[in-house]
Amino acid sequence: MSLLELARRRRTVRKFKRDAFPMEKLIKCVEVAKEAPSGINKQPWHFVLVNDPSKKREIRNACEEKEKELHSRVKGELKEWMERENITWKKEFLEEVPYLVMVFSDTRAPYSRESTWVAVGYFLLALEEEGLATVTYTPPPSRDIAKEVNAPPYYRLETILPVGYPASKGRKKERKRVEEVMSINTF
Ligand SMILES: Cc1cc2nc3c(=O)[nH]c(=O)nc-3n(C[C@H](O)[C@H](O)[C@H](O)COP(=O)(O)O)c2cc1C
Repeated sequence: MSLLELARRRRTVRKFKRDAFPMEKLIKCVEVAKEAPSGINKQPWHFVLVNDPSKKREIRNACEEKEKELHSRVKGELKEWMERENITWKKEFLEEVPYLVMVFSDTRAPYSRESTWVAVGYFLLALEEEGLATVTYTPPPSRDIAKEVNAPPYYRLETILPVGYPASKGRKKERKRVEEVMSINTF
């Protein structure tokens, strides 16, 4: 399958089957992600694969605690989007999947966040190639969540990717046309 076909096929999934899959599939995706470019080639990313059920539960609890606070404060466009998408403080997907992939950036490196997100993009497409699905979950900033996996204090948790086989794959969200996102010689 071409990169364009993979990119067009990929979509966010928030409901997963509990079916197991081999860890090798995720390792293959990390192999792809770690080929990403990075500021002065520091490769400032770290991927923690979590399959221990009690650890997943603790991560879910830590996230939901912060989500409750966030949801009580959220307003405007974000609130409307969450209601439309049925996104609440509950994060069942953090427990129902075989694996969580926690992606950290090393804040000591220049461009650590930008570089890590490039690697996340590579990882998302690699998952699609493996027939696996995820949601790019960005938990509210909190050291408590990172502490669940003993991350050093200078590592920032960027995203938690719950990975599994999709239980239901929603429709592909529309994308802008190429003419809307690109111009030639002048903006
Ligand atoms: C940086 C980033 C942060 C996101 N954060 C969340 C999140 O916290 N929770 C969630 O349910 N989806 C999150 N998403 C998923 C987006 O809502 C989703 O990618 C977008 O609606 C487009 O849909 P698609 O991925 O199916 O094409 C995030 C995506 C990105 C790229």
